[in-house]
Amino acid sequence: MVVKKIFGPVAAIGVLVLALTGCAQSGGGESDGPKDPGDIVVGFAQVGAESGWRTANTTDIKAAFEEAGIPLKFSDAQQKQENQIKAIRSYIQQGVDVIAFSPVIESGWDAVLKEAKDAEIPVVLTDRAVDSKDDSLYVSFLGSDFIEEGKKAGEWLVEEYADSTDPVNIIQLEGTTGAAPALDRAEGFADVIAADEKFQVVASQTGDFTRAGGKQVTEALLKSNPDVNVIYAHNDDMGLGAIEAIEAAGLVPGTDIKIITVDAVKDGMQALADGKINFIVECSPLLGKQLVEIVEKVVAGEEVEKRIITEETTFTQEQAIEALPDRQY
Ligand code: AHR
Repeated sequence: MVVKKIFGPVAAIGVLVLALTGCAQSGGGESDGPKDPGDIVVGFAQVGAESGWRTANTTDIKAAFEEAGIPLKFSDAQQKQENQIKAIRSYIQQGVDVIAFSPVIESGWDAVLKEAKDAEIPVVLTDRAVDSKDDSLYVSFLGSDFIEEGKKAGEWLVEEYADSTDPVNIIQLEGTTGAAPALDRAEGFADVIAADEKFQVVASQTGDFTRAGGKQVTEALLKSNPDVNVIYAHNDDMGLGAIEAIEAAGLVPGTDIKIITVDAVKDGMQALADGKINFIVECSPLLGKQLVEIVEKVVAGEEVEKRIITEETTFTQEQAIEALPDRQY
């Protein structure tokens, strides 16, 4: 053979290298147990730093990977989907072992997830869902049940006004438009309050999950809805912004206008303890350890659960006072 004649020694070395590589793969690969943690590379595409929850989530994820000795490539998308897509494409190019991300909005992920699948890089969704019809595009989704969170907020409200027949006018401060927690928290809440027509959402606008957004939207909406009784904010930060706007309008948050929020970060819990927020539905940002476990299993070729729901509770003022001293975030 011509090739053999000309490249005989090189070909022989090639065959040897291939054989050795083959041995190394079967020796250190899936069949013989998990990869060394230091050899696993994970790319994480975070939403941004829009809220106290997000900051706690980032800190927890970085700490969990550091503790596990797994190198983590981290990017902050500044709440822009195009930045997250760029980051995911760059992780694909770098050939990381696993990609994890919290999708800023629900839709528009199929193309990039397909690219990851074609490159045989497993993807784990954390915190937020995608609306893709093809669930083979990701291996697992770890995070809260946001519809349930919205329902818990609605249930507290129904209970709080159980003895009243007067209208209850509600302003809803929505999270980022198109984001799973904004859509689902609105849906769960609406489902529960629909049972009694005294509950009316008189205005609903996005505050983009930020304190500044919550303040600005509340300032404007209080002017057009002076008879509001309740503010339902999709996160603590927007609720904290609403408190500033209510106080600036000469009203007393928690008394003149009741406030329900979601998250239970320290600042929110302090406001609840102080009586400025009336009820908080917990959404846990502590996803790091569970994400590490999923990554280790995926890399070892083990089965992982398709959907892992975070365990969460709710807080009244008394419960917040009790929980605050030990609150981690
Ligand atoms: O996706 C989780 C939500 O995103 C949190 O409730 C909110 O604070 C964050 O920005």
